Amino acid sequence: MTAPLHPDTVAVHSGRADLAELGVHALPIDLSTTNPLPDIERGGDSYEAMATGGRPPVDGSMVYARLWNPTVARFEDALAEMEHAEASVAFASGMAAMTAVILAHTGATGLRHVVAVRPLYGGTDHLLGSGLLGVETTYCHPSEVGISIRPDTGLVVIETPANPTLELVDIAAVVAAAGSVPVVVDNTFATPILQNPIDHGAAMSLHSATKYLGGHGDVIAGVVACSEQTAEALRRVRAVTGGLLHPLGAYLLHRGLTTLPVRMRQQQEKRAADRAVASGSARSGRSVLPWTRR
Ligand SMILES: Cc1ncc(COP(=O)(O)O)c(C=O)c1O
Repeated sequence: MTAPLHPDTVAVHSGRADLAELGVHALPIDLSTTNPLPDIERGGDSYEAMATGGRPPVDGSMVYARLWNPTVARFEDALAEMEHAEASVAFASGMAAMTAVILAHTGATGLRHVVAVRPLYGGTDHLLGSGLLGVETTYCHPSEVGISIRPDTGLVVIETPANPTLELVDIAAVVAAAGSVPVVVDNTFATPILQNPIDHGAAMSLHSATKYLGGHGDVIAGVVACSEQTAEALRRVRAVTGGLLHPLGAYLLHRGLTTLPVRMRQQQEKRAADRAVASGSARSGRSVLPWTRR
């Protein structure tokens, strides 16, 4: 058995498995909206496979960029590996990602009840309460998740740390209380560097990639890490509703993942230093974070 790779190594190498074979170092940007078909029959089979959430067949075609894009797929592979997930699916924004998660687990299953733990990002709260997605939502405290579950509950939504209060929720405890109902964790604020919700039993880890994943304020995007089975359901929603991440955005996000561990360490160290100063416990030259102790 080989030891798991260090997260810093994963951040630099993930989603780049095919680059050596392509003979390139930098991530290729494929802007094709349509792709050649080997023949009509294999083109049709490829379309069907991807419109229902699958991957492009080996001897087929990517057909159309609403179904598949290789630059986006590389970013998805990278984020999946960083989140310890089988797969991930990228979207045009964090809200498009949350919309797809809700639709895939309610509209597509007929289970139209959602349990949501507050506090949640305001946009998510508004989406659930808007009536647009045809769901009924029970808002509750983390300790009330178990008693809030009903036979028609399709999804439990939590966010930890929450935006903007940074309140924390015990992911494993919510997963246990939810039983067989899948739990989505909005992991935007922790990022996969500080927290991997899937390791604690969550079915999905969702990001507004617009924040720390992007890190440079120039991409709006969302992504959901999950099992391959859930990824198929999410890709199906994406294919029919069209909430796509553009390949240029995927390129910038993927490139930015390489510095995510460094950026998160700096952010945490600065915050810890600020808190130490505020509490008067700062000791000159000593960091309070384990990775900077010498
Ligand atoms: C925690 C959290 N989740 C989801 C979203 C929505 O993401 P986006 O703005 O990329 O649609 C945001 C945006 O601020 C957020 O902070």
